[in-house]
Amino acid sequence: MTHEAGWAHAPGALNGPSWLRAPGDVNALVPQLWSATAEKRDGELHIGGLAVPALVADVNTPAYVLDEDDFRGRARAFRDAFAGYDVYYAGKAFLSVAVAKWVAEEGLSLDVCSDGELTVAERAGVDPARIGYHGNNKSLTALRRAVAMGVGRIVVDSFHEVERVAGIAAETGLPVRVMVRVTAGVEAHTHEYIATAHEDQKFGFSISSGDAFEAVRRLHEAPGVELLGLHSHIGSQIFDSAGFEVAARRVLALHARVRDELGVVMPEMDLGGGFGIAYTTQDDPADPVTLAKELTGIVEHECRALGLEVPRLSIEPGRAIVGPSMCTVYTVGTVKKVTLDGGASRTYVSVDGGMSDNIRTALYDADYSATLANRSSDAPPVLSRVVGIHCEAGDVVVKDEFIPADIRPGDLLAVPATGAYCRSMASNYNHALRPPVVAVKDGQARVIVRRETVEDLLATDIG
Ligand code: LLP
Repeated sequence: MTHEAGWAHAPGALNGPSWLRAPGDVNALVPQLWSATAEKRDGELHIGGLAVPALVADVNTPAYVLDEDDFRGRARAFRDAFAGYDVYYAGKAFLSVAVAKWVAEEGLSLDVCSDGELTVAERAGVDPARIGYHGNNKSLTALRRAVAMGVGRIVVDSFHEVERVAGIAAETGLPVRVMVRVTAGVEAHTHEYIATAHEDQKFGFSISSGDAFEAVRRLHEAPGVELLGLHSHIGSQIFDSAGFEVAARRVLALHARVRDELGVVMPEMDLGGGFGIAYTTQDDPADPVTLAKELTGIVEHECRALGLEVPRLSIEPGRAIVGPSMCTVYTVGTVKKVTLDGGASRTYVSVDGGMSDNIRTALYDADYSATLANRSSDAPPVLSRVVGIHCEAGDVVVKDEFIPADIRPGDLLAVPATGAYCRSMASNYNHALRPPVVAVKDGQARVIVRRETVEDLLATDIG
């Protein structure tokens, strides 16, 4: 049986996508794709005041390079734009002890969605009151731990969990602060959203079926449980606020129903994360100030219409903070020109990582870009595909990019905007060692997550 190669074999793919243009200067960075301190000097990529070729001579490749000032700057920009509200950094995008500390130092709260992420937060000394705990299947043990730690809010996702948190409140007498995760019937991706999307997915309680109201009712009646409000997350990599508007309207209508029927005014409301970033020149994300204006405007308008007091709003950006702060640096190993029937050809540039450090291209058909990081080149740019080391034809890092024709083994290629969902979704496929994360700032480099070793890899293989 043949397997589907999907976009990799799509007709017309040899021309590249319509939005991709040959660059005027193949050596120049496209600024909106890179972290704040990234620049080219004599062809060498510099980040955080450090020359990337010298940096990776020390730490080897592949490596994720994290621009600390850029991360902190984006975190602050969200905090300031949403002043008076709460910004929870979504740790699933990328979390380490150092990053959790930066989040706290910059005055943000932290969203975790697993016991492991909670452990990182604890290790970093994050104030538990500023942690929000998500997940559609939190165990009783995990919930007990979160309550014992004093986690600020648990986002309840099922009727079983309603029973669990009510039970924990009764058995411990500790405060259990909860939000109710609702599905507002909105699914948003990039520039499109579907407002009548059926709610056939694992997260949350449906508003339209009445389940969300019922969950609120049961939690309101549970002694010791403090009901903060409703939580809605509509999707990821979204550029258009229209989906948030529909979701906010439906969520606030439920706030009003709860007020009218249960006599309860819920003080908070979370609109989730999902704010888009630029991976390539086709993306044009809004800045946090614009987002804040749009979202608070929508919420205030709806509250006026419903005669509701404006609840304390919170959001949970992950990608929009860490995504652009990090890039991945690879070494080129082989270059191969493949000639197809009809004479068309494609250049495959193989680097020393791949789907084990960035699964997003294979999994979501995501677009990325790449630049030569160790020298400038006068050679003409050639439409190329950047691929990895893995035993799989879909092991593609960058589907289409113009790369100088003289690219050769030993060159460095850097892929921007890999901060979100790359290291956090990395795997050991083919027994690859997961790359380190090196934080750079003011000319100093600090490894905040070290490279895995063969010993790490074999530690769990007990024969
Ligand atoms: N809050 C909740 C409840 C979420 O489920 C998510 C993401 C976020 C916040 C943060 O979303 P962000 O601002 O980072 O888009 N692995 C996929 C993305 C999965 C997102 C899951 N939930 C990707 O690589 O595109």
